[in-house]
Amino acid sequence: MALLEWNADLHTGVQDIDDQHAVLVELLNAVHEAVRERRDALAGLRALDELIAYTRSHFAIEERLMGEVGYPEHAEHRIYHEALLDQIGALRQRLDTGEATISAELLDFLRVWLTRHIGESDRRFGDWYATHGSRPAWMHEVQHAMVARRWWQFSK
Ligand SMILES: [Fe+2]
Repeated sequence: MALLEWNADLHTGVQDIDDQHAVLVELLNAVHEAVRERRDALAGLRALDELIAYTRSHFAIEERLMGEVGYPEHAEHRIYHEALLDQIGALRQRLDTGEATISAELLDFLRVWLTRHIGESDRRFGDWYATHGSRPAWMHEVQHAMVARRWWQFSK
Protein backbone atom coordinates (compact mmCIF):
# COMPACT_ATOMS: atom_id res chain seq x y z
CA MET A 1 0.00 0.00 0.00
CA ALA A 2 1.11 3.48 -0.75
CA LEU A 3 2.46 5.56 2.10
CA LEU A 4 0.18 8.45 1.19
CA GLU A 5 -2.90 8.30 -1.02
CA TRP A 6 -3.92 11.37 -2.95
CA ASN A 7 -7.17 12.56 -1.38
CA ALA A 8 -9.60 15.46 -1.25
CA ASP A 9 -7.98 16.96 1.88
CA LEU A 10 -4.94 17.69 -0.25
CA HIS A 11 -6.85 19.76 -2.82
CA THR A 12 -6.01 23.45 -2.71
CA GLY A 13 -8.16 24.34 -5.70
CA VAL A 14 -5.15 25.82 -7.50
CA GLN A 15 -4.85 23.38 -10.37
CA ASP A 16 -1.13 23.91 -11.07
CA ILE A 17 -0.26 23.49 -7.42
CA ASP A 18 -2.51 20.45 -7.03
CA ASP A 19 -0.91 18.78 -10.03
CA GLN A 20 2.54 19.38 -8.56
CA HIS A 21 1.44 18.10 -5.17
CA ALA A 22 0.19 14.92 -6.83
CA VAL A 23 3.70 14.41 -8.21
CA LEU A 24 5.16 15.07 -4.75
CA VAL A 25 2.94 12.36 -3.31
CA GLU A 26 4.01 10.02 -6.09
CA LEU A 27 7.70 10.70 -5.41
CA LEU A 28 7.25 10.22 -1.67
CA ASN A 29 5.57 6.89 -2.34
CA ALA A 30 8.46 5.94 -4.61
CA VAL A 31 10.92 6.46 -1.72
CA HIS A 32 8.72 4.33 0.50
CA GLU A 33 8.57 1.63 -2.14
CA ALA A 34 12.31 1.62 -2.70
CA VAL A 35 12.92 1.21 1.03
CA ARG A 36 10.16 -1.36 1.50
CA GLU A 37 11.39 -3.52 -1.32
CA ARG A 38 14.82 -3.40 0.28
CA ARG A 39 16.47 -2.71 -3.01
CA ASP A 40 20.05 -1.55 -2.68
CA ALA A 41 20.50 1.43 -0.38
CA LEU A 42 21.29 3.62 -3.37
CA ALA A 43 17.83 3.15 -4.86
CA GLY A 44 16.26 4.66 -1.74
CA LEU A 45 18.71 7.55 -1.73
CA ARG A 46 18.17 8.20 -5.42
CA ALA A 47 14.40 8.28 -4.90
CA LEU A 48 14.82 10.59 -1.91
CA ASP A 49 17.05 12.92 -3.92
CA GLU A 50 14.39 13.13 -6.62
CA LEU A 51 11.81 14.00 -4.01
CA ILE A 52 14.09 16.68 -2.54
CA ALA A 53 14.92 18.18 -5.95
CA TYR A 54 11.27 18.25 -6.93
CA THR A 55 10.26 19.76 -3.60
CA ARG A 56 12.82 22.55 -4.01
CA SER A 57 11.49 23.45 -7.45
CA HIS A 58 7.91 23.17 -6.32
CA PHE A 59 8.46 25.44 -3.30
CA ALA A 60 10.23 28.01 -5.48
CA ILE A 61 7.31 28.03 -7.93
CA GLU A 62 4.74 28.26 -5.16
CA GLU A 63 6.62 31.14 -3.54
CA ARG A 64 7.00 32.97 -6.85
CA LEU A 65 3.30 32.59 -7.50
CA MET A 66 2.43 33.83 -4.00
CA GLY A 67 4.75 36.80 -4.40
CA GLU A 68 3.38 37.79 -7.79
CA VAL A 69 -0.26 37.63 -6.80
CA GLY A 70 0.47 39.56 -3.59
CA TYR A 71 -0.49 36.84 -1.12
CA PRO A 72 -0.43 38.48 2.34
CA GLU A 73 1.05 35.38 4.05
CA HIS A 74 3.78 34.95 1.46
CA ALA A 75 6.71 35.63 3.81
CA GLU A 76 5.41 33.37 6.53
CA HIS A 77 4.74 30.58 4.06
CA ARG A 78 8.24 30.86 2.74
CA ILE A 79 9.63 30.36 6.23
CA TYR A 80 7.78 27.03 6.51
CA HIS A 81 9.32 25.91 3.23
CA GLU A 82 12.80 26.97 4.26
CA ALA A 83 12.50 25.22 7.61
CA LEU A 84 11.64 21.94 5.93
CA LEU A 85 14.43 22.26 3.36
CA ASP A 86 16.91 22.97 6.17
CA GLN A 87 15.76 19.91 8.09
CA ILE A 88 15.93 17.74 5.00
CA GLY A 89 19.36 19.08 4.10
CA ALA A 90 20.73 18.20 7.55
CA LEU A 91 19.13 14.81 7.39
CA ARG A 92 20.47 14.12 3.93
CA GLN A 93 23.98 14.74 5.25
CA ARG A 94 23.45 12.23 8.02
CA LEU A 95 22.39 9.69 5.42
CA ASP A 96 25.58 10.34 3.48
CA THR A 97 27.82 9.81 6.47
CA GLY A 98 25.93 6.66 7.43
CA GLU A 99 24.74 8.14 10.74
CA ALA A 100 21.15 7.58 9.66
CA THR A 101 19.12 5.47 7.24
CA ILE A 102 15.83 6.10 5.47
CA SER A 103 13.72 4.82 8.31
CA ALA A 104 9.99 4.43 8.83
CA GLU A 105 10.23 7.47 11.15
CA LEU A 106 11.78 9.57 8.42
CA LEU A 107 9.12 8.56 5.92
CA ASP A 108 6.44 9.24 8.45
CA PHE A 109 7.89 12.65 9.23
CA LEU A 110 7.73 13.54 5.52
CA ARG A 111 4.22 12.18 5.14
CA VAL A 112 2.92 14.11 8.15
CA TRP A 113 4.73 17.31 7.16
CA LEU A 114 3.37 17.19 3.60
CA THR A 115 -0.15 16.32 4.68
CA ARG A 116 -0.25 19.13 7.24
CA HIS A 117 1.45 21.73 5.13
CA ILE A 118 -0.74 21.10 2.10
CA GLY A 119 -3.89 20.56 4.15
CA GLU A 120 -3.44 23.73 6.20
CA SER A 121 -1.06 26.31 4.73
CA ASP A 122 -1.42 25.56 1.04
CA ARG A 123 -5.17 25.25 1.30
CA ARG A 124 -5.33 28.62 3.04
CA PHE A 125 -3.50 30.05 0.04
CA GLY A 126 -5.93 28.21 -2.27
CA ASP A 127 -8.90 29.85 -0.55
CA TRP A 128 -7.32 33.26 -0.92
CA TYR A 129 -6.26 32.60 -4.53
CA ALA A 130 -9.82 31.64 -5.51
CA THR A 131 -10.91 35.25 -5.17
CA HIS A 132 -7.63 37.18 -5.54
CA GLY A 133 -5.36 35.13 -7.79
CA SER A 134 -4.84 34.60 -11.48
CA ARG A 135 -2.54 32.30 -13.41
CA PRO A 136 0.65 34.04 -14.52
CA ALA A 137 1.79 33.52 -18.13
CA TRP A 138 5.06 31.81 -17.08
CA MET A 139 3.17 29.04 -15.31
CA HIS A 140 2.25 27.28 -18.53
CA GLU A 141 5.82 26.44 -19.42
CA VAL A 142 6.85 25.75 -15.85
CA GLN A 143 3.96 23.37 -15.44
CA HIS A 144 4.95 21.56 -18.58
CA ALA A 145 8.37 20.87 -17.09
CA MET A 146 7.02 20.05 -13.63
CA VAL A 147 4.24 17.70 -14.65
CA ALA A 148 4.11 16.81 -18.31
CA ARG A 149 7.79 16.31 -19.09
CA ARG A 150 8.55 14.72 -15.75
CA TRP A 151 12.15 15.93 -15.92
CA TRP A 152 13.13 14.14 -12.73
CA GLN A 153 12.64 10.79 -14.41
CA PHE A 154 15.33 11.62 -16.92
CA SER A 155 17.87 12.60 -14.34
CA LYS A 156 18.48 9.00 -13.27
FE1 LIG B 1 3.59 25.40 0.41
